[in-house]
Amino acid sequence: MTIIAPSILSADFGRLADEIADADRSGGDWIHVDIMDGHFVPNLTFGPVVMGAVRQATKLPFDVHLMIQEPERYIADFVRAGADRITVHAEACVHLHRVIHMIKEQGIPAGVALNPATPLNAVKHVLEDLDLVLCMTVNPGFGGQAFIPAVLPKLRELRRMVEARGLDGFLIQVDGGINKETAPLVKEAGADVLVAGNAVFAHPDRAAAIAELR
Ligand code: DX5
Ligand code: ZN
Repeated sequence: MTIIAPSILSADFGRLADEIADADRSGGDWIHVDIMDGHFVPNLTFGPVVMGAVRQATKLPFDVHLMIQEPERYIADFVRAGADRITVHAEACVHLHRVIHMIKEQGIPAGVALNPATPLNAVKHVLEDLDLVLCMTVNPGFGGQAFIPAVLPKLRELRRMVEARGLDGFLIQVDGGINKETAPLVKEAGADVLVAGNAVFAHPDRAAAIAELR
């Protein structure tokens, strides 16, 4: 069963709490929260204070995608603000193994994200410590970008690696350019969790958009 995680990056930030409640009513499984620092990616969003302010809008899990340098500095703050799971970028962590365990010490699942050009080698020695790997299907920073098909072989290889090691419950997530045309491709390649910003929030019927992706 595919998990659909609407990304609030494409929501109306002036009505953020209502938009989150709407993604919930429309059938989303997780709320994907994109945190950007203007250094790791060329864009800025918001921090734990704003996230905490909208946390009560839904009971769905908050799936927090940290696109920030030195994410270890903010893990505890995001957990206090209501993060149910945290994903950090391999490229943003000098001591990735340590950061993964900092997340797990908070009692929540840990994920690692890989940019399209980052090979699976970056996670192959920590896979057993992880709950999820996020294969970015665009270069992170903005919503509404075009899907990069060169990531598909990486997804297939990751799926094989997860199966070969017998990692039950391990999730493979994709993020960027996911819509009704690309969703079947990533599902076929092994993705379990589909993040979608524009495909959900810019759709006139969000429930239909989520159903189409699923
Ligand atoms: C991009 C973010 C994504 C973004 C995806 O850096 O990580 O979560 O919201 O947006 P779409 O689905 O519009 O490509
Ligand atoms: Zn994201």
